[in-house]
Amino acid sequence: MKKTIGCILGVLLVFSLSAQIGNSAKAKEIVSKLTLEEKADLVVGKGMKIPGMNSQSGPVVGKTEDKVPGAAGTTHEFPRLGIPSMVLSDGPAGLRINPIRNGDSSKTFYATAWPVATLLASTWDTGMVKKMGTYFGNEIHDYEVDIILGPAMNIQRNPLGGRNFEYFSEDPVVAGFMASALVNGIQSTGVGTSIKHFVANNQETNRNTVNTIVSERALREIYLKGFEIAVKKSNPWTVMSSYNLLNGTYTSQEYDLLTTILRKEWGFKGLVMTDWFGGKDPVAQMKAGNDLLMPGTPSQTKAIIEAVKNGTLDQKVLDENCERILNIIFESPAYKNYKFSNKPDLRKHEEISKIVAEDGMVLLKDNNHALPFSKNVHSIALFGINGYELIAGGTGSGDVNKAYTISLAQGLANAGYNVANQVKNVYTNYINEEQAKHPKKSFFAEFMNPTPPVKEYVADEAFLNSAAENDDIAAISIGRNAGEGRDRKIEDDFNLSDTERALIEGVTKAFHSKNKKVVVVLNIGGVIEVASWRETPDAILLAWQPGLEGGNAMADLLSGKINPSGKLAITFPEKYENVPSAKNFPGKEFPEQATTGNFGMKQIPAEVTYDEGIYVGYRYYNTYKVKPAYEFGYGLSYTNFSYSNLKLSASKFNGNLTVSFAITNTGNVAGKEVAQLYISAPSGNLDKPAEELKNFAKTGLLKPGQSMTIQFNIKASDLASFDTKRVSWLVDAGKYMVKIGASSENIKLSAAFSVPKEIVVEKDHNALAPQVEINEFTGK
Ligand code: BGC
Repeated sequence: MKKTIGCILGVLLVFSLSAQIGNSAKAKEIVSKLTLEEKADLVVGKGMKIPGMNSQSGPVVGKTEDKVPGAAGTTHEFPRLGIPSMVLSDGPAGLRINPIRNGDSSKTFYATAWPVATLLASTWDTGMVKKMGTYFGNEIHDYEVDIILGPAMNIQRNPLGGRNFEYFSEDPVVAGFMASALVNGIQSTGVGTSIKHFVANNQETNRNTVNTIVSERALREIYLKGFEIAVKKSNPWTVMSSYNLLNGTYTSQEYDLLTTILRKEWGFKGLVMTDWFGGKDPVAQMKAGNDLLMPGTPSQTKAIIEAVKNGTLDQKVLDENCERILNIIFESPAYKNYKFSNKPDLRKHEEISKIVAEDGMVLLKDNNHALPFSKNVHSIALFGINGYELIAGGTGSGDVNKAYTISLAQGLANAGYNVANQVKNVYTNYINEEQAKHPKKSFFAEFMNPTPPVKEYVADEAFLNSAAENDDIAAISIGRNAGEGRDRKIEDDFNLSDTERALIEGVTKAFHSKNKKVVVVLNIGGVIEVASWRETPDAILLAWQPGLEGGNAMADLLSGKINPSGKLAITFPEKYENVPSAKNFPGKEFPEQATTGNFGMKQIPAEVTYDEGIYVGYRYYNTYKVKPAYEFGYGLSYTNFSYSNLKLSASKFNGNLTVSFAITNTGNVAGKEVAQLYISAPSGNLDKPAEELKNFAKTGLLKPGQSMTIQFNIKASDLASFDTKRVSWLVDAGKYMVKIGASSENIKLSAAFSVPKEIVVEKDHNALAPQVEINEFTGK
């Protein structure tokens, strides 16, 4: 028997090795047949038509009309060698292609708007996210796209980050696990992914010019870590380098980032592409290991050809860039001649999108059982313009052309409630009037100059009192939208506007005076201020930007058909000033050095220093004892859970430690719980955050009284910190605490173990050091 298994394994090994060698031999052979001009074409995308484009850098959300109209870009084809062109398309929350081709609306190409990444992270359910990825992958495949430009996985360093909705979390373990789950799901269908934006692209202000200054330790432990996890756990086909400079060099031109760390240390085998028009110097990009320049410009091709001719670019380097691209092309549906249907199963995908949305919405507050709605709730007075116009996802390349969206009003009606007409008519008339003032602009015009959102309707007392008289409960929906190219503002965005505050106060006063309850629903893509108003309403449901089925998902949670089980993967601070990066976001500008970039836009050199070091998100709030409004890992349920029976496999760490415990549903309805494993390390050679998340799990649906045992393994690498002086990942000797939490503050069980002597887990390369001194937080 043993022999047979050995034999099978041997055959498998030879098979997989030969497949790999086969590919690279095939790639080498093709490269040997390419002319220099063809090589330069292969490493530069086919370009895109954008009116007024005059240089190679600048903000871009464009599309090509080639092959799949509306996709973000394509690679060159070489028919004489059997090499097709690959289609690359956005984005992280759904496929962004044109829904209508050549003005013919008899056949449409709408795509599913999935819940945004921030909501996916709030599910804490990697199985769910992987499953969603398989449906997402099928849709990509069916629409003839080879590589999806996502998941996006930068750290949500600051709540004002314009693209935070595209990203998962403030924590690299959550970001890494979620991105891996999505990549594994999508790639299992035979299409590729591009994890982006590598790396330290945590703001939109001056995104093409900003120099991010960050310590090696913070880079390794916070900003690179999620990417490292994703590369090791899911082998994404491609990585997209970012727009910014990192410690003085454009990321797409940084050899130590793209080759030393990504390839040599982590073993990445795929190709690296630029973000659209990212970086400055095509030759430096080739040398750094940034194989593909997207979307591609003639001047890049020319520069590469000239550099080989004049000896400043070694032909061998260009050959390797080409080989890496070819090895991915060999995997692509285009090369495999996949017969795409252009008819994905959109109905099924909508159903999955709703299930995921329900899994990631977070119940922030529920006083006196305002939720779920009681049996006596029939008529709902729905306030807030957002209740009638869902924000399914953010703007820019992370947007999706979906066939429809379900508003909260529609969702409540679908769930059988009476959405009060008297209130509804006032809002819908107001929205129509306001929207008529701003004719719809093209996607590109909108990107350059976004239409301001419709201002909240000013509701007077008589209107509120009459609703309180007539209806059983009030719901208020507050919405926020943002996207690439711009960060959010503090006033009227992070903080509620005066009209929104007045609305919450007015509605609550009117309804409470009739002994009726008030529920606030937040349809937002990033964190807002809640501390100053959260005492007013009875309940708050954080729905995030939940994809096209959002309103149906919200209604099922409000009605209690589904029990909320999402938890925050980002902290809600008490106020903006409490955010650790508040003083260093979005950094300094040097306007006297400004130049003109694409579309006549000003390019202002800028720099931002990450003074907070590793103290990002809860690592900061917990260590510095700054009380947040809602902490990382927080979320309520309609039931309760107890935690018990924590067991560690040993009290002395010997390279692997097993942690197990039980969770029991002690309430009256079925529900799912998210358990989080934090480690508190001894203060040895390096400063340590008070707690660091190392793993997490979500239970299945537990019936009342039902228990489940959860088990985690802790390896030495999970305990290690990066010691810059020794360029090594080290585990200090001493006493460690395992803390099992329902959130980062609500620790339910804990136990100690010891590490008898220092462990050197890995020695790395000296790379990416900042050139200036950073006055970093020390945790003390
Ligand atoms: C964005 C990328 C996107 C690309 C292609 C860029 O502006 O930063 O995330 O994938 O455009 O549309």
